[in-house]
Amino acid sequence: MIKTLAKSIREFKLQSFLSAIFVALEVIFEVSIPWVMARLIDYGIEKSDMAYVYRFGGLLFLFAILQMLCGIACAYFATVAGSGFGKNLRRDLFKKIQEFSFHNVDTFSAGSLVTRLTEDVTFIQQAFQMMIRGTVRGIFMLIFSIVAAFLINARIARIFVIVAVILAIGIAIISRLAFPIFDKLFKAIDRMNNCLSENIRAIRVVKTFNREEYEINKFTAITDDIKKYSVKGEQYMVLGYPAMQLVSFTCIIAVAWIGSKAVIASGNNPDLGFTTGQMMSLIAYGLQILMSLMMTSMAFVMFIISAESAKRIYEVLLTNSDIVDSPNPITEIKNGSIEFKNVNFKYSSTAQKNVLSNINLKIESGQTIGIMGATGSGKTSLISLLPRFYDTLSGEVLIGGVNVKDYQLKALRDSIGMVLQKNVLFSGTIADNLRFGNKSASYEEMAKAADIACASEFINEKEGKYDSTVEQGGSNFSGGQRQRLCIARAILKNPKILIFDDSTSAVDTKTESKIRSGLRDIYPNVTKIIIAQRVSSVMEADKIIIMDDGKILAFGTHNELLKTSDIYRDIYETQVKEAA
Ligand SMILES: Nc1ncnc2c1ncn2[C@@H]1O[C@H](COP(=O)(O)OP(=O)(O)OP(=O)(O)O)[C@@H](O)[C@H]1O
Ligand SMILES: [Mg+2]
Repeated sequence: MIKTLAKSIREFKLQSFLSAIFVALEVIFEVSIPWVMARLIDYGIEKSDMAYVYRFGGLLFLFAILQMLCGIACAYFATVAGSGFGKNLRRDLFKKIQEFSFHNVDTFSAGSLVTRLTEDVTFIQQAFQMMIRGTVRGIFMLIFSIVAAFLINARIARIFVIVAVILAIGIAIISRLAFPIFDKLFKAIDRMNNCLSENIRAIRVVKTFNREEYEINKFTAITDDIKKYSVKGEQYMVLGYPAMQLVSFTCIIAVAWIGSKAVIASGNNPDLGFTTGQMMSLIAYGLQILMSLMMTSMAFVMFIISAESAKRIYEVLLTNSDIVDSPNPITEIKNGSIEFKNVNFKYSSTAQKNVLSNINLKIESGQTIGIMGATGSGKTSLISLLPRFYDTLSGEVLIGGVNVKDYQLKALRDSIGMVLQKNVLFSGTIADNLRFGNKSASYEEMAKAADIACASEFINEKEGKYDSTVEQGGSNFSGGQRQRLCIARAILKNPKILIFDDSTSAVDTKTESKIRSGLRDIYPNVTKIIIAQRVSSVMEADKIIIMDDGKILAFGTHNELLKTSDIYRDIYETQVKEAA
């Protein structure tokens, strides 16, 4: 896991390394200071040698300055490396998510992916920064201080080792208890993000149904959970701090107790035995050792939290899209003919019933096909198999006589222009949105597509024309305008197959008929699939598919279906009567 995540350090390896080097230097100076102090007291002050005091005083000052400079350098490099690592990790995750299939996204849930990309990466970034600075510092300091303390007086220094072991055991116990709570905490944050993004996306629906109260209660329940787990987790963590203080000061008292006895016994003579200066430096080392233990344990807490985050990020990085190119993919799509051969399909492998069963269908290139059927009958599912949003459970889907799985995904999707049932516009300008279909489209090309989609009329009325702003989600356009922009965007792709999934539901029948005839005249070779609720939208089509409960119930022209399909005749008669 660590190896996979560490790959994202990339160009920031040097900074990470420099940060560790500078922190090591910082520690060396810091550990030297008590030693210089001891000499200054024992040889300078005790023997009233002013020259010695000046010399070692100067040295003390120099060490302090150097320690500070190294500290600053280390902080700088650690910050650069940490932020850089965070940036790379976010980018890698984002790239991975772009490769995900619909099924992958469904499995993780959108909210969870958001948490992973934001909160989890921040934790990892902090932990990494802490590691290259705090942990390295803590460990170096621990080692150097213990060595220095042993050099001064091995007998007393043993106390430190005992204390260190006791503390380490304590920390290990606390982290074991806290670990599962952090797991729950992160799951609750996932739920919060899911709830939040769903609510904001559907805020209009919430208001229409006066569901604010309900939504607030739902959200509050989740935030209560977050609070509960945060408090629980923190409780264990704060427990560690006072316990550590207690142990630390008991340790200092022990050193002072045993040390002062030794000083008195040796007559405070540096050449004979233990001295005041040595005892002072030993206490300083003791404090440094405990400080570094504290620091390491804090870093450890960070690691506990971040281990959970790391696991969650690792899961995303490890997941490979279940829809990928075949080994030698075909990049050329001959034409827009479509064939379904004994196709069965369901969204989840555990679902009992198939969403599509036993679909057999042949569509010639350039034909216009209408699809009708009750909601949930599988219309959207059927067309989702063409660009391989999902793969079939069994059977084959062929385009241009070739199984869709044998095409290069990019080429396949490039050749299909699709207006989704839930169409989306992005914030930017109209031109930005249209160019989603074709990066390099000129204004003339955009105007031509907009003409066919009957979008020119309202685009040209805007002050900025094609450079007018589109708010997030296209909220500053009406439903019908949005649909027409999405149609123009799909046409601009210059595809071999054009699919409209209920894409003219918000457009009036006259405009709709204009769009249809425009498409027929200008793109005679493009296969057009129109899913619709209105008979008028499909009755001029070459063939009409009637779907019911995941099966094709009837397939034929308007006149044929009027004779053979009861459902079609019923729909036709009710709609025509209503219109009359
Ligand atoms: N992403 C999904 N995951 C699981 N089940 C799904 C998913 N999308 C659709 N379904 C299920 O598949 C069935 C067919 O849905 P589909 O969207 O194809 O219907 P539809 O004919 O397009 O309906 P509508 O006219 O309402 O758009 C439904 O029972 C639906 O619950
Ligand atoms: Mg649908």
